[in-house]
Amino acid sequence: MIHCEIVKKLVIQHIILALYIILLVCVPLGVILTLITAPRLAINVAVTQPVVLEIQNSKNNLTSPRVITSQPLDHDELFLRQASKVDANPSRQLPKKLAFMFLTTTSLPLAPLWEFFFNQTSDHKSLYNVYVHVDPTQKHEPDFFGTFHNRIIPSSKPAYRHTPTLISAARRLLAHGLLDDPSNYMFILLSPSCIPLHSFNFTYKTLVSSTKSFIEVLKEEPGWYDRWAVCGPKAMLPEVPPEAFRMGSQFWTLTRLHARMVVSDVEIWSKFNKSCVRKDMCYPEEHYFPTLLHMRDPQGCVSATLTHVDWSVNVHGHPRTYKPSDVKAELIQNLRNARLSYGDGSRTRNDTFLFARKFSPAGISPLMNIARNVIFNDSALV
Ligand SMILES: *[C@@H]1O[C@H](CO)[C@@H](O)[C@H](O)[C@H]1NC(C)=O
Ligand SMILES: *[C@@H]1O[C@H](CO)[C@@H](O)[C@H](O)[C@H]1NC(C)=O
Ligand SMILES: *[C@@H]1O[C@H](CO)[C@@H](O)[C@H](O)[C@H]1NC(C)=O
Ligand SMILES: *[C@@H]1O[C@H](CO)[C@@H](O)[C@H](O)[C@H]1NC(C)=O
Ligand SMILES: *[C@@H]1O[C@H](CO)[C@@H](O)[C@H](O)[C@H]1NC(C)=O
Ligand SMILES: *[C@@H]1O[C@H](CO)[C@@H](O)[C@H](O)[C@H]1NC(C)=O
Repeated sequence: MIHCEIVKKLVIQHIILALYIILLVCVPLGVILTLITAPRLAINVAVTQPVVLEIQNSKNNLTSPRVITSQPLDHDELFLRQASKVDANPSRQLPKKLAFMFLTTTSLPLAPLWEFFFNQTSDHKSLYNVYVHVDPTQKHEPDFFGTFHNRIIPSSKPAYRHTPTLISAARRLLAHGLLDDPSNYMFILLSPSCIPLHSFNFTYKTLVSSTKSFIEVLKEEPGWYDRWAVCGPKAMLPEVPPEAFRMGSQFWTLTRLHARMVVSDVEIWSKFNKSCVRKDMCYPEEHYFPTLLHMRDPQGCVSATLTHVDWSVNVHGHPRTYKPSDVKAELIQNLRNARLSYGDGSRTRNDTFLFARKFSPAGISPLMNIARNVIFNDSALV
């Protein structure tokens, strides 16, 4: 019996030893295999403090994998990483929703018009969400009432012209919208000077029936090379060669799939999150989104913006701003009848502008005067 016990003990000891060996050999092997079969863009987040994000670019096998950036992850980056894990397909049971994302500093002077747009019928409540990004360091005007009440996203940070902070703000809005509601299907970026050109019904039907994003994607616009090189002659290389560079309006409408693509992007963003050498060409928010989507999924985009703007007037880099006296039924009709300009020269599409800018804060009274009969009346004829 005693002999038997000793044999049993020996056998158990051998089994434990074997388990140790398996652990010692297999775990590192597993790690190596995981690394070999890892996706093209490997993102490693170290769990120990400080949290560090390392991106390895191994898309191109001519260059060996290398670290593009290695820096502490701030709250923004963690938030974006969380948003990049959401389901790209909106839930099938619930109706699709539109995410209206307003990017402003302190106020939304045209809020009453939007309020009217949103509240035309009560059943609209379940078809949209509103998100507002403000400058938290400045005092807000008291116009965040009604639909806009409590819609300021808590991660808001100051955003300035001629810097990539405007891109960061838009990415934050997208991340918030993705995480907030799985039914958000289209993400519309708007400025405080934007107005709707149609009823909610019309806008909703147009956007939920599209499977593509609407984003202006222009190739070789005048001055494009200077804009590509605005952070230095080599700043964009090698990820964004000159021939991949695109420009377009900052105001786009992205599908849920593309919204997730933007918040997941680390590689292209790292090329655009840079200071410009010259200010007059520094509009990174007009470059990043068209370039990224052109590189990742050109077929998934209608290469035009749905937000009308009049660049026949250019005052210090700002397009025409409609004065209160310009606001008439004829203006709305002209904006609705204008043809979109497609970056890919498409002649087969016949989309209509859904939004327009820029309207001055003082324009709110004449806009409200024609809201019911003209702006939100889809059959209105002048
Ligand atoms: C990468 O490697 C694959 C397979 O070895 C090859 O087919 C492909 O052409 C290479 N790509 C580049 C950019 O060299
Ligand atoms: C809808 O919005 C308009 C404009 O702000 C407002 O006058 C009206 O009272 C609102 N109606 C409802 C039902 O909330
Ligand atoms: C909007 O559409 C819904 C459903 O198609 C309809 O019930 C509602 O009356 C429409 N509202 C307006 C203001 O046209
Ligand atoms: C973007 O640039 C700013 C300023 O240089 C920096 O603080 C931030 O960490 C950068 N973000 C990313 C994701 O590279
Ligand atoms: C585009 O739409 C307008 C107005 O709805 C119509 O008059 C025109 O014939 C359409 N053009 C094409 C090419 O479908
Ligand atoms: C909408 O426009 C049509 C055509 O101009 C007009 O007949 C109708 O009265 C308008 N509806 C409203 C509510 O103003």
